Amino acid sequence: MTTKKLARVLIFLTSASFAVSLSLMRRETGTAYSSEDQKAILEVHNYYRSKVSPTATNMEEMKWDSVLAKQAQDWADTCVYEHPNKTIHKDYIGIGQNLYAIYNVYGLETAKPDATEPVESWHSEVQYYYYEYNACVVDEVCGHYTQVVWADTTDVGCGINYCLSAKYDNTALPNAWIVVCNYSPGGNYIGQWPYETGEEQCSQCSDGRPCKNGLCSDCSPQNDPDCECKIKCQNCGSVQSSDLCECLCPDGYFGEFCEEFCEDKHYYCGANPGWPTRWCNDSSYWWVDEYCPLMCGLCTNGTQVDPANC
Ligand SMILES: *[C@@H]1O[C@H](CO)[C@@H](O)[C@H](O)[C@H]1NC(C)=O
Ligand SMILES: *[C@@H]1O[C@H](CO)[C@@H](O)[C@H](O)[C@H]1NC(C)=O
Ligand SMILES: *[C@@H]1O[C@H](CO)[C@@H](O)[C@H](O)[C@H]1NC(C)=O
Repeated sequence: MTTKKLARVLIFLTSASFAVSLSLMRRETGTAYSSEDQKAILEVHNYYRSKVSPTATNMEEMKWDSVLAKQAQDWADTCVYEHPNKTIHKDYIGIGQNLYAIYNVYGLETAKPDATEPVESWHSEVQYYYYEYNACVVDEVCGHYTQVVWADTTDVGCGINYCLSAKYDNTALPNAWIVVCNYSPGGNYIGQWPYETGEEQCSQCSDGRPCKNGLCSDCSPQNDPDCECKIKCQNCGSVQSSDLCECLCPDGYFGEFCEEFCEDKHYYCGANPGWPTRWCNDSSYWWVDEYCPLMCGLCTNGTQVDPANC
């Protein structure tokens, strides 16, 4: 093997990236992905997203985003195999990034990787990921995988470039293809699971989104036979209608899936001393809405139901 592969992932909050020097050589320009490649990259993402194990209940279908793709291509064009420093590159705030490189240490030209190869490589880290503990096997990386299957990420855009010498921390990668995929919203927030799990795909799609191929989608149930509302309303809530994929909750319940009972959860709600009603809807006292939804009028008072007898 004369070619070597690498992958880097941007982990939010712990990302180590460096200020970059842009003085590196670039042999080829115009290497950006063709529309066919873009389609293939998107499809392989959505394929793996729909097949996660354990099953996902809130996995969004990804779309290709040309602004993300331009940003990723611009990054690949710098021939820097490092993540951007978000303090300097403010357009990266909220964006996730997976990097992939294939290079040749003997000064030989490296063949261009297939469009799906980086995604396959990132996805292969699934073998190191334990959903139950939301952790990687010790000393292994699995953050590329979790970004690929990050449920809330709706958009992806990627770029590719050939670099005679790509900067990689304090060394250089010779004859390197650099692939950059940017994701929005970015994933890999420490302590968060990449997706929710449960028996049925799409049972927890947010924002009234229906389901297509096991992914929460922008499809329309009226116009597309493969598009269905699959959300599960809890506590005797019911789906409003097949084209408005939202739960109608009985009195006393609220939340997107009627999962929350309407009650104040802290004895400070409305108490004196405590948290007065005027602190509701005030971002300086953001926790008051969360702890005191009844006092704050965010839900209607009601009685507990027994989900077994809806
Ligand atoms: C990012 O850039 C800022 C400002 O130049 C610098 O202070 C910081 O150390 C950099 N962060 C990393 C991780 O390199
Ligand atoms: C807070 O805002 C919600 C929605 O805008 C409103 O229904 C509620 O009455 C407000 N509550 C208070 C205490 O102002
Ligand atoms: C809500 O309803 C319960 C029982 O129906 C009642 O005891 C309580 O006082 C009510 N609370 C408010 C704020 O209306």
